[in-house]
Amino acid sequence: MTDIGMYQRLLEHLTTAVVLLDGSLHVIWMNPSAEALLGISRARVEQSRIDCLEGDDGVISAMLAKALEEQHPYTQREACLVLASGESITVDYTATPLSEQELLLEFEARDRLMRISREEALIARQEMVKVLTRGLAHEVKNPLGGIRGAAQLLEREMDDENLSEFTRIIVGEADRLRDLVDRMLGPNKLLAHTPVNAHAVLERVRMLLTAETSNVTFIRDYDPSLPDIIGDESQLIQAVLNVARNAVQALEENDISSPTLTLKTRARRQFTLGAERHRLVCEIAIIDNGPGIPESLRESLFYPMISGRAEGSGLGLSISQSILHQHQGLIECDSLPGHTEFRLLVPLDIADKGHQLNGGHA
Ligand SMILES: Nc1ncnc2c1ncn2[C@@H]1O[C@H](COP(=O)(O)OP(=O)(O)OP(=O)(O)O)[C@@H](O)[C@H]1O
Ligand SMILES: [Mg+2]
Repeated sequence: MTDIGMYQRLLEHLTTAVVLLDGSLHVIWMNPSAEALLGISRARVEQSRIDCLEGDDGVISAMLAKALEEQHPYTQREACLVLASGESITVDYTATPLSEQELLLEFEARDRLMRISREEALIARQEMVKVLTRGLAHEVKNPLGGIRGAAQLLEREMDDENLSEFTRIIVGEADRLRDLVDRMLGPNKLLAHTPVNAHAVLERVRMLLTAETSNVTFIRDYDPSLPDIIGDESQLIQAVLNVARNAVQALEENDISSPTLTLKTRARRQFTLGAERHRLVCEIAIIDNGPGIPESLRESLFYPMISGRAEGSGLGLSISQSILHQHQGLIECDSLPGHTEFRLLVPLDIADKGHQLNGGHA
């Protein structure tokens, strides 16, 4: 087969929608995925403009023209395209000028797959929220000791049993607030720094959850070649447990038929986390066939105090994320109804890179 024939076949079979435009934004070529996504046939639009790229306000076509003029690639996330059928879809697209007369467009549909990923901007936002909450938690904690002590002193001075009922409420509520703040602050000790077997962590979590549920089937899909993580075993158990317990809760609360939780491990080579490329990364995936993450939590899933459950405190995922950060790793999530996948990613080459684990908040 000639090279051209091979490239053509490759493009035609890509699941990514690809469109090639000329200098006046007329279609030169598009692959079948683009035809399917945009709901148009190549034969009909060749040599003409695609209506849905004009949009109501012409912003997309203006950006495309600008990318061509400046010969600079351009990416827009969550652009809304109104198709010829009247349906609107949300896409991420990248426009790459190949020459002054050729602009390559790649589209990724965003509607069905909700991805909360390892993008740098998102990580930076989570870090900022974490710093803010920690600061606030410290400020709340300081006066609590004083309030509690004063209430106890008052109680000792008072003979009236009816009044000491109130001081006991003050002490009880101060304790409740202190526990909440302690959970928000996370572990107040340095992380251990020992070899941890990811499968031992997962088996421990599976045992704990099996005791809490009788309906859910656990599937194990472990990569036996996975090297040990260097880190803190009890913290990693906590991180995995928070994620897996959410999955079990989602399965049980929604009455899913044959609820299944898959625990999977893989070694990933040459993997980028944030801005850093790692030689080897441990991936622990926790996959459930529940209803999926509510759309309203999409932006804020890993923030503290964000919960979709009436009795949830919304701290589980933010604690897990912060434990993973302390191991130079992170958690990402893809969610569709019927398939929610959280991936805990921990670099296995941090010793080579001379990184230290971060621990404690004091
Ligand atoms: N696997 C999942 N499927 C569906 N929704 C999920 C899943 N995991 C998390 N969620 C949603 O994300 C929310 C936040 O989870 P998080 O663990 O941070 O808090 P929580 O479970 O509400 O409270 P806590 O863990 O502190 O008791 C949950 O309330 C739930 O709505
Ligand atoms: Mg939770």
